Amino acid sequence: MAEWSDDSPAARLRKIALLSQELPVLLRRALVDFRLSGDSGVVVGGLPLADADLGTSPPVTATPPQRDELARADAMLLLIASFLGYPVSQAGVDDGRLIRDISPKPGHETTQLGSSSSGELMWHNEDAYHPLRPDWICLLCLRNPDSTATSFVPITEVPIEEPTRSLLFQPRFRIEPDSSNVSSTAVAEPPAVAVLAGDRSRPFVRLDPAFMIRDAADGEACDALETVIKAVDDRLQDVRLAPGEILIIDNLRSVHGRRAFQARYDGRDRWLRVVHAAADLRRSEGFRTGDHGRAVLADVGLVQR
Ligand SMILES: [Fe+2]
Repeated sequence: MAEWSDDSPAARLRKIALLSQELPVLLRRALVDFRLSGDSGVVVGGLPLADADLGTSPPVTATPPQRDELARADAMLLLIASFLGYPVSQAGVDDGRLIRDISPKPGHETTQLGSSSSGELMWHNEDAYHPLRPDWICLLCLRNPDSTATSFVPITEVPIEEPTRSLLFQPRFRIEPDSSNVSSTAVAEPPAVAVLAGDRSRPFVRLDPAFMIRDAADGEACDALETVIKAVDDRLQDVRLAPGEILIIDNLRSVHGRRAFQARYDGRDRWLRVVHAAADLRRSEGFRTGDHGRAVLADVGLVQR
């Protein structure tokens, strides 16, 4: 059993969870309001960042830079994520790192990866295929020279009429792992899941159109899927983050993506840092790995959520 004086990654996370109670009262109040209200997203601004101290945007540097300014940004991200829930990662994504960089990468321009640029990143729920997908995504903007928009919409703002609505509550949809998760690309046919779940008037949503199987044998489900995709497209909003702003996305109540932009590859590119948070660690007990113990395995069988 690790002691509190232990400086292992797992022990550091425990300390961060305690320290999150020391966040400024106004910020804690805003986060509690956000969490209890069931709002789909919020922007927290005002994190002081000195651009000159950040170094160059990845991937010009071979590895993410280690600087005091970035350490402060990471601490703020982890504190906020720890106040909402428990920071978690995916074991198959970026070696299970808890804090990940998002910036354009040469060769990825038109892929459906966070490192794409000239191609729009289709909106989605994060890790939609995964039964233990994160509850919240905390996106900290370090640099955004062209005010590139994060696309976003709460599912409650998307009109979904009957009979499409009822059909989306039925487990008739299959979602494949997205291509960022290297350890889950060979998984057998994904299980059938519902797009909408929970409270029928304020449902949770599970969509990733770029990785959803269209089964011609179930025309009704295909039609319902295309209907909701178009409805989301029509309501999609743009959130243009500025440096020092953190967008907190409720991953069960909203979808997000990114508009197209032109990468520079000059060390000044758009650069975000991201931490995921889970509301409950018990659901993933026995399915996590990593030296911090928070990297959720890609294949967790039929754990339901
Ligand atoms: Fe995403």
